[in-house]
Amino acid sequence: MKKIKSICCIGAGYVGGPTMAVIAQQCPEIKVIVVDINADRIAQWQTDNLPIYEPGLLEVVKEARGRNLFFSTDIENAIRDSEMIFMSVNTPTKTYGLGKGRAADLKFVELSARKIAEVSTSDKIVVEKSTLPVRTAESIKTILKEHTNGVKFQVLSNPEFLAEGTAVQDLQKPDRVLIGGDQTPEGLQAIEALTDIYAHWIPREQIIQTRLWSSELSKLTANAFLAQRISSINSLTALCEATGADVDEVAYAIGTDSRIGSKFLKASVGFGGSCFQKDILNLVYLCEYFGLPEVAAYWEQVIIMNDYQKKRFATNIIHTLFNTVSGKKIALLGWAFKKDTNDTRESAAIYVADDLLSDLAQVGVYDPQVSADKMYADLNYLQTRPAKENEQMLEVHSNAYDACKDAHAIAIITEWDEFKTLDWQRIFDQMKKPAFLFDGRNILNHSHLREVGFIVKAIGKGAE
Ligand code: UDX
Ligand code: ADP
Repeated sequence: MKKIKSICCIGAGYVGGPTMAVIAQQCPEIKVIVVDINADRIAQWQTDNLPIYEPGLLEVVKEARGRNLFFSTDIENAIRDSEMIFMSVNTPTKTYGLGKGRAADLKFVELSARKIAEVSTSDKIVVEKSTLPVRTAESIKTILKEHTNGVKFQVLSNPEFLAEGTAVQDLQKPDRVLIGGDQTPEGLQAIEALTDIYAHWIPREQIIQTRLWSSELSKLTANAFLAQRISSINSLTALCEATGADVDEVAYAIGTDSRIGSKFLKASVGFGGSCFQKDILNLVYLCEYFGLPEVAAYWEQVIIMNDYQKKRFATNIIHTLFNTVSGKKIALLGWAFKKDTNDTRESAAIYVADDLLSDLAQVGVYDPQVSADKMYADLNYLQTRPAKENEQMLEVHSNAYDACKDAHAIAIITEWDEFKTLDWQRIFDQMKKPAFLFDGRNILNHSHLREVGFIVKAIGKGAE
């Protein structure tokens, strides 16, 4: 079988960048070019100030960059010169027209497929890397077929399971790699060619080969199951708070059952990120499309519960602060959707802040990795109020102490490690009294905080 010597990846984002960096690091004999229409992003990948924050990523990039890892905006030449092309473009939920708010917007995928068809002069293996609805490969195939002049394409699905914040680790030591392809001799050959690349550093028995659609559906299902676990435990936080049970104790008790397992049972202010909501909405859309309303409703409940959880957290702050936060400063610690990333897509922080601002709070925010511009852009996207008002009412600080100064309450939104070692006495002394602390992640030592003088409201824990 012919070994792949050149790879191109369309899309230099959270998935494409780290994935290609690790492939290049592990396969020094393969030339890897990452291309993007966003010239700024490409320029940043060429510096030590990478466009995304991922622990360990810079070291990997530096090892391979200039050797066999390249970043470029010359999409056409990169496609033409490569034997294998990864599609790693963004696939947000549609914000318009048919399937609005549910279906994935495939315009970037379609554009990339058209570009590949248009410029290719030799056979290619096209790999779907972005999370896509089941049967997208079929559409990609149709586009590729339309435009070929004797050039043959094989389409593979190779979903990415990396989680942000641990991308490098997840790529270097994945639980498994999944590769789906056509069960024809050419399809099986293409599956083998990609398997061969991963086999540079992943044991072959961990590389699962399936049909194309099974692979596509497995990605959506994996994310739906993970999100479902969080919504399940989060659904119990309200019950715990009402009855005096402790959700962390419940999670621990059930998690020791090996059939249930302990991971993804951490109660929170609600899950965020670019994948969970989008993938479940995709699943819901597919079920509806195929006339399965009961199945659609089942999975949609995971999202409904998550929206409820974010809303409940904000409402709880307002109720506890004597039913109004008007004119009161509320400090939000954390804006990213989880720790160790600067990604804010679907972060609970956006919705909590928006609800507090609607009740006329003054919001002070600190996040170690998220820029002020990004925070305002996130809020403005919701269009709840004019951008100018968001700027007047929400202030971004460069450290936690300033964010909390003169606040009536603090809300922990992201589980950044540095919040655990803050000088909580110093923070308390500079706050309005009574000083409330709402822990949306249960990462702090609540008995210590109570000793200091805080009134602590922890997610899923009954009254003091
Ligand atoms: C997820 C999947 O884990 C990954 O396999 C897939 O490729 C992409 O989607 P990611 O969105 O990067 O990864 O982060 P993840 O660690 O799964 O967290 C998602 C959200 O759930 C975060 O907001 C996180 O804080 C929240 N979460 C996670 C909880 O609230 N409780 C938990 O127990 C775990
Ligand atoms: P993900 O989390 O899926 O990686 P990102 O938004 O971080 O999503 O990255 C997707 C990248 O794909 C962006 O940098 C975007 O500019 C790029 N992109 C989108 N459409 C195209 C296209 N047609 N050609 C090249 N790059 C594209």
